[in-house]
Amino acid sequence: MTIIRSQFLFSGVLALLIVATAGALAQPARQSIAHRGASGYAPEHTAAAYKLAMEQKADFVEQDLGVTRDNELICIHDDTLERTTNVAKLFPERASANVPSQTPGRHWLVNDFTLAEIRRLDAGGWFKPEFANARIQTFQEAIDLVRGKAGMYPELKSPQLYKSRGIDQVKLFVAVVRKNGLEKPESLRTTPVIIQSFDEEAIRRVAVDLPTVPRVFLTSRDEDVTEPRIRELAKFSTGIAPEKFVIARHPELVQRAHAAGLTVTSWTFRADEKTSFPSVRDEMSHFLYTLGIDALFTNNPDQFPRR
Ligand code: G3P
Ligand code: CA
Repeated sequence: MTIIRSQFLFSGVLALLIVATAGALAQPARQSIAHRGASGYAPEHTAAAYKLAMEQKADFVEQDLGVTRDNELICIHDDTLERTTNVAKLFPERASANVPSQTPGRHWLVNDFTLAEIRRLDAGGWFKPEFANARIQTFQEAIDLVRGKAGMYPELKSPQLYKSRGIDQVKLFVAVVRKNGLEKPESLRTTPVIIQSFDEEAIRRVAVDLPTVPRVFLTSRDEDVTEPRIRELAKFSTGIAPEKFVIARHPELVQRAHAAGLTVTSWTFRADEKTSFPSVRDEMSHFLYTLGIDALFTNNPDQFPRR
């Protein structure tokens, strides 16, 4: 009798284990995107930040993209150079006129400088002296550095600014992607690429020009997570990436987006930000495993909670 009861108990536990394992397997793994590289520890968008992100096992490394005066795509977040380089020291007379900016003071537009000039800038000293003389990378250099080791997550930054200067940023980007064959299924299997932009027109265009590459619409607006707007976004986008505050205000959007076939990614999770969570790891866990988002951008890929 005791043996029969033990066998029942064993079978029951085994069944529970199988169900639990199947459930875990059915749930795709959550993914980390190193925001501007491992930018909590190294100057954003430098090779040091990208290499560290890969050492910290980030699933993707982000590239924000700007365009130089001679039409080269480079990895930089701001439209201007002064926050992250010594441009004011090297080119004091080259500040740009009429720059739309929320920060006071003089501005040096990326697009007013050639790649040769930009290569002279120190893009690391502002962060910590030990990174002095780090250089701004081209998108091509970033591809050569990251390809085969992690996924890439390029952002088409400010396409409208470039358009106003007669430059088609999306066209330049598509050309680099095609030149490298990044859109080919065999390449995507080893180096996943996801394109992101706040610019709806840019996402619509890459949907047509690079249909094999997933693309994510970025937003910090509540209006973009309503039911009809999500259905509209799903016609040309493969994912939505609302800022974390939007998700906190509308947690139901996660299920709504998933039901429309969209992935949900959020930003930005950083250890140096004061939040109501005890740590950035706890904050990321909440968004990933309680609210159910698929991926997130973090300055601290080493703190990404995996299950
Ligand atoms: O691209 C996702 C997130 O990085 C958006 O914020 O301003 O850092 O590009 P930002
Ligand atoms: Ca970005």
